[in-house]
Amino acid sequence: MTVSKTSNKTVTKNSEGNWLVTWLRRLSILGMLIATFSWLDAIKDRWYVFDPVFLNQLANTAIAASPNNTAGMISHILTNLTQTYPTSVVRINTDSDEWVFNNAGGAMGAMYVIHASITEYLIIFGTPLGTEGHTGIHTADDYFNILVGEQWAFKPGQLEMEKYTPGMVHLMPRGVAKQYKMHEGCWAMEYARGWIPLMLPFGFADTLTSTLDVPTLYNTVRISGREMLGNLMIGKI
Ligand SMILES: *[C@@H]1O[C@H](CO)[C@@H](O)[C@H](O)[C@H]1NC(C)=O
Ligand SMILES: *[C@@H]1O[C@H](CO)[C@@H](O)[C@H](O)[C@H]1NC(C)=O
Repeated sequence: MTVSKTSNKTVTKNSEGNWLVTWLRRLSILGMLIATFSWLDAIKDRWYVFDPVFLNQLANTAIAASPNNTAGMISHILTNLTQTYPTSVVRINTDSDEWVFNNAGGAMGAMYVIHASITEYLIIFGTPLGTEGHTGIHTADDYFNILVGEQWAFKPGQLEMEKYTPGMVHLMPRGVAKQYKMHEGCWAMEYARGWIPLMLPFGFADTLTSTLDVPTLYNTVRISGREMLGNLMIGKI
């Protein structure tokens, strides 16, 4: 009896010690994860290939080269990008027939993915009908270059709207949210830089909870996955 009591006590003491050790271990793993992520976040700039200023110039030359012709602007953008960036540095999807619906934040349009990697994406997004919704709160900076039409936006506290017209760029810094409206028909070249995979839940939420458009979901995952992997394979993170 006595022996077993003693051994029980020992066991209890040991498991208390183990409990502490386990939690210290968990805390130190958490600390290391946080340190790793903040380090990655601090150095992510080195993986960026595209330049927001260059892209805005490109949007403007595309508009000037093909006035009133959205397809012409897109083809101008593609020709320039494929001439500017070697295929060894970045993967560009030149299949401009590869359009998919995009439902997010209550807004709806179509997108063509020109580039997608872990830290950047470049798409053509818009609709000839107009749409309106929540921009989402993203883990990336978003440069929305208007090609055709107008985009309107506001955030709580503003009593007047912001208005973006062709050639202008609407910068949405990471963490910011607005209501936006693509008034009537509007097309834009959207460039995002930051942590792209963390933006995907917002990109899929409307499909999963509302449209249940499985072919679109499938194609979006297929195209984005293919582009991200293709970029990883040439070392573009
Ligand atoms: C691409 O567009 C930029 C911006 O308009 C321009 O400076 C550059 O010369 C163009 N490059 C090619 C290869 O057309
Ligand atoms: C643009 O094209 C549309 C349809 O072809 C036409 O109605 C409109 O007048 C054109 N606008 C300009 C500025 O050329």
